[in-house]
Amino acid sequence: MSTRVIIVGAGGHGQVVADILLQMAAYSATLRPVGYVDDDASLAGRQLLGLPVLGKVTDIVAFEHDAVVVAIGDNRTRRTLLMTLQSQGESLVTAIHPRAVVASSAVIGAGAVLCAGVIVNPGASIGVNVIVNTGATVDHHNVIGDHAHIAPGAHLGGDVTIGEGTLIGIGAVVMPQRRVGAWCTVGAGGVVTRDLPDRVVAIGAPARIRRTHA
Ligand SMILES: CC(C)(COP(=O)(O)OP(=O)(O)OC[C@H]1O[C@@H](n2cnc3c(N)ncnc32)[C@H](O)[C@@H]1OP(=O)(O)O)[C@@H](O)C(=O)NCCC(=O)NCCS
Repeated sequence: MSTRVIIVGAGGHGQVVADILLQMAAYSATLRPVGYVDDDASLAGRQLLGLPVLGKVTDIVAFEHDAVVVAIGDNRTRRTLLMTLQSQGESLVTAIHPRAVVASSAVIGAGAVLCAGVIVNPGASIGVNVIVNTGATVDHHNVIGDHAHIAPGAHLGGDVTIGEGTLIGIGAVVMPQRRVGAWCTVGAGGVVTRDLPDRVVAIGAPARIRRTHA
């Protein structure tokens, strides 16, 4: 029997995740997306990519399913929702696009989303609820903390560590062996040449700290 999956969030990223699940379902009958939940009342009853918006997140128990994937781009919101849903006993699935290349020795955390064109190399560890977005590469022995987001086209060298909840922006580069702290933002196109502490926003090439997150 296939695992019926509800996508939490029906926005742009939610539809990217829906497409991944539909592609996975085309390759394997073990998983079946059944629809979205979203608190945006204007989406209720709509069909997106052929899947219905079933109702609000708080009503999720009313809809038949076996597991969820949280498809919200903002890292803090995604973390909060995941923790709430887990505390309600929800199971998590990982969504890995059939055209992502993932080394057999890589470890992928529960609820993680790996989009089309992603490459994850040997020994890498991807945390719980992480997004590795379209065309991003995570090289060997990286450690990506829970709830992080590696945005489209970002590239991480070997032995990089990314802290919990950090956003590596579109097209950014992290040089090999660098460590980026928790809950940081590396701006789009930034190049991290030195380690970054927790909770900073860094931009540019080389990336310079612009401010600290609250
Ligand atoms: C770095 C970032 C967080 C800054 O956001 P912000 O503090 O709101 O900055 P602002 O948009 O107010 O811009 C402030 C200045 O920084 C510049 N700036 C913004 N982002 C920049 C970036 N990534 N690199 C270089 N300069 C940048 C702006 O041009 C502006 O310069 P100016 O004062 O000379 O006009 C944001 O621009 C960014 O890059 N976020 C990542 C987005 C992303 O990749 N999301 C993933 C989606 S899938």
